[in-house]
Amino acid sequence: MSAIGIHDLAVATGHHVLELDDLAERLGVDPAKYHVGIGQDAFSVPAPDEDIVTMGAAAAKQVIDRHGSDGIRTVLFATESGIDQSKAAGVFVHGLLGLPQAVRVVELKQACYGGAAALQLALGIVARNPDERVLVIAADVARYDVDTAAEPTQGAGAVAVLVSADPDLIEIEPLSGLFTADVDDFWRPNDRSTALVDGRLSVSAYVDAFIGAWDDLASRGGPAYDTIDRFVHHQPFTKMALKAHRKLTQHVGVPFDETELQTGFTYNRQVGNTYTASLWIALAAVLDLDDDLDGTRVGMFSYGSGSVGELITGIVRPGYREYRRQGAVRADLEARVPLTVDAYRALHADGAATSQDVDRPRVTAAPFRFAGVLGGARHYEATTPAA
Ligand code: COA
Repeated sequence: MSAIGIHDLAVATGHHVLELDDLAERLGVDPAKYHVGIGQDAFSVPAPDEDIVTMGAAAAKQVIDRHGSDGIRTVLFATESGIDQSKAAGVFVHGLLGLPQAVRVVELKQACYGGAAALQLALGIVARNPDERVLVIAADVARYDVDTAAEPTQGAGAVAVLVSADPDLIEIEPLSGLFTADVDDFWRPNDRSTALVDGRLSVSAYVDAFIGAWDDLASRGGPAYDTIDRFVHHQPFTKMALKAHRKLTQHVGVPFDETELQTGFTYNRQVGNTYTASLWIALAAVLDLDDDLDGTRVGMFSYGSGSVGELITGIVRPGYREYRRQGAVRADLEARVPLTVDAYRALHADGAATSQDVDRPRVTAAPFRFAGVLGGARHYEATTPAA
């Protein structure tokens, strides 16, 4: 069978940014606690007319603009900040992008792991029908209560991944390592718009899942540690990945070099936690910013609290750099409009999904916006109407 994997990978984020220096000043916290202690510098905040649909559609538009929609018969939307308990967010994206009607669309949830689950389902679909391509979207708005320890680890962002045979970017290898354990480290009951988290427990649960997934992969004949050239991780905050990777190296019995992980932290330090999108934003950073990775093996660790972990490996395709949108993510990050702490908190207070009719002000500069709720239903529109 020919190679199957990631043909394209595009990133989108929110319109606004909150610098953690400003939050530190407001809370009387040493900024080094954020920059060094948890490894975060800022986080994206959605405008009032942005949400997972608009960010997901903005990421997917880049993919569709480049590759068209031919062969796409499946759209998988992974999120844990869903905006409806019934309708898949991907159906809105399908409409906004004008995708063909002969397409199945579904939403997937298992905390931050949903994006990796979607990737695996996509690989299976393409394996059965190599002429098909699957559009995977992972989008989230990470929201915790203000004035909690988790407040600086919020964020917002999306990725779109096109999965196909003969991919331009990464061939995904067939073996992966799996781990599931029932644990209450992070969850969001149906009557809450903000997550509940036991931060310390989430660190140990993440480490357990990483080592468990590693052991499963090794027991199935997976690659030796020293044949994996780069690792990227799910990053609720970048220090989490650092801590977990140090534990993995101790477990395997190899030296730990934290400098090797820094490139994969570059975007996430600025965007904050993006739940399902986080791992893939880290992968985008490595593909955009690392040295030439032609033919190298990348280990990708996905973790979703609750908890499920999976360690996936892939081989970077020769010539992949030609297909990256060099500078695009950095430009998006730099274009974000800074917020004061008061302005961010006002948006946060207004951030819960509602069924009350409401019009949303025009703020976003992204290609699609959340126009508001009418008759209890959410409405989206292109910001620049088609000519
Ligand atoms: N300079 C440098 N480092 C500092 C510091 C300073 N002035 N002050 C504190 N730190 C360090 C601490 O030593 C600690 O480092 P360590 O973990 O290596 O020991 C780190 O900063 C965090 O400080 P701590 O007081 O332990 O944490 P906290 O109570 O503020 O909470 C989190 C931090 C990350 C646990 C919290 O933000 C959280 O729960 N976030 C959500 C995590 C999540 O989403 N989990 C679920 C998904 S997996």
